[in-house]
Amino acid sequence: MQQKISHINELIKGKSPEEALLAIATTFPNKVVFSSSLGYEDQVITHFIFSKNLPITIFTLDTGRLYNETYSVLQSTLERYKKPIKVFYPQTTGVEKLVSEKGPISFYESVENRKECCFIRKVEPLQRALQGYDVWITGIRAEQSDGRKDIPAVEWDEANKIIKFHPILSWTLDEVKNYIAKHNIPYNPLHDKGFVSIGCAPCTRAVKAGENFRAGRWWWEENNKKECGLHSN
Ligand code: ADX
Ligand code: SF4
Repeated sequence: MQQKISHINELIKGKSPEEALLAIATTFPNKVVFSSSLGYEDQVITHFIFSKNLPITIFTLDTGRLYNETYSVLQSTLERYKKPIKVFYPQTTGVEKLVSEKGPISFYESVENRKECCFIRKVEPLQRALQGYDVWITGIRAEQSDGRKDIPAVEWDEANKIIKFHPILSWTLDEVKNYIAKHNIPYNPLHDKGFVSIGCAPCTRAVKAGENFRAGRWWWEENNKKECGLHSN
């Protein structure tokens, strides 16, 4: 595996994110997949992929609890690029059991309940979405959290047994915003209302000036690592 990671690092050396994605997609035909939350960063990567016709599959996980604005971005992205985005849903049986037994907002009650909901609505569908691929592209940026600040652009994801590549890891939020504006890319209007990282509606809120980028996610949990199981950092 280390050999494959070194090979990819060699392939992308000195390349722009777009060139790097092309090099990886060409080296691993039909084996590269991009997970889009439809947030700012991911819209940039979707633009790279669709505007350059890169052979990379794009999917999004619809947890069933997203903001309406997020669905509007999905719609405007489909209209703009006229290319498909696969949508994965949670298994009906899991959601029915969870909500029937614990109610619709069990995630506020404990970290354990919150992780249970994230597993059913995000992690299990993610596992299905990654099946059969060799490289998983994400929109993670180093400045998003302490846990992300030192990760390598190409890394091994032990939980999903797949290589991950973060093409815009080193970009700042301003670089992302400028790119979106320059290319007139559809984006979630919640970003203009103080939302930086946008997940499920009941679990995401705007952040105040000076607050950490992840402060708006699961804000009621104290001293807890703010992650849902999609990524380990
Ligand atoms: S989080 O869930 O771990 O908080 P975050 O919002 O920071 O994720 O996004 C990091 C990356 O995870 C995104 O760039 C995207 O690749 C992936 N991701 C997050 N949410 C989704 C989703 N609903 N569907 C697909 N990919 C997602
Ligand atoms: Fe459930 Fe909230 Fe996790 Fe969404 S972010 S899957 S609503 S606990």
